[in-house]
Amino acid sequence: MDKKIRDLLNDQINKEFYSAYLYLDIANFYSAKGLDGFANWFEIQAKEEQSHAMLFYQFLHNNDQLVELEAIGKPDKTFSTLSDPLEAALEHEKYVTSLINNIYAAAQKAKDFRTVQFLDWFVKEQGEEEKNANDLITKMELFGSDPKGLYMLNSELQGRVYSDPSLVL
Ligand code: FEO
Repeated sequence: MDKKIRDLLNDQINKEFYSAYLYLDIANFYSAKGLDGFANWFEIQAKEEQSHAMLFYQFLHNNDQLVELEAIGKPDKTFSTLSDPLEAALEHEKYVTSLINNIYAAAQKAKDFRTVQFLDWFVKEQGEEEKNANDLITKMELFGSDPKGLYMLNSELQGRVYSDPSLVL
């Protein structure tokens, strides 16, 4: 494997674990506000990110590449309103999409079609991640300012259950 591609894939392990940490921090924020459904949604999001990290980890191992784990950054975003974390999550997913696209383009340039094929799933996943983040913002705008609406939305988000993304790969 081209060293540049290996380095980008290795770095993405860290980026995905950082995403997990960021979403756990958001869950922590909502938990402190008494919104256990929002907290549940983001705890599950954090688990998904951990599994994304493990997919990169496993892919490198499967291709006989060395994995080097780096320190995970402290989530440093501050939230004032109940909507702030939702906006931050969408921004973060757009950033992750740009990272995946960057690796994809580099893999294509290096004619590393195995990596390109591996990343196909992530390209699709990022579309879903951005849509989910956008949908949450829309629902919050529609219902969040009304206490009953917020209660119902919180109850809906409480129903999210974890399914391991690696099972679909
Ligand atoms: Fe790992 Fe939310 O993308």
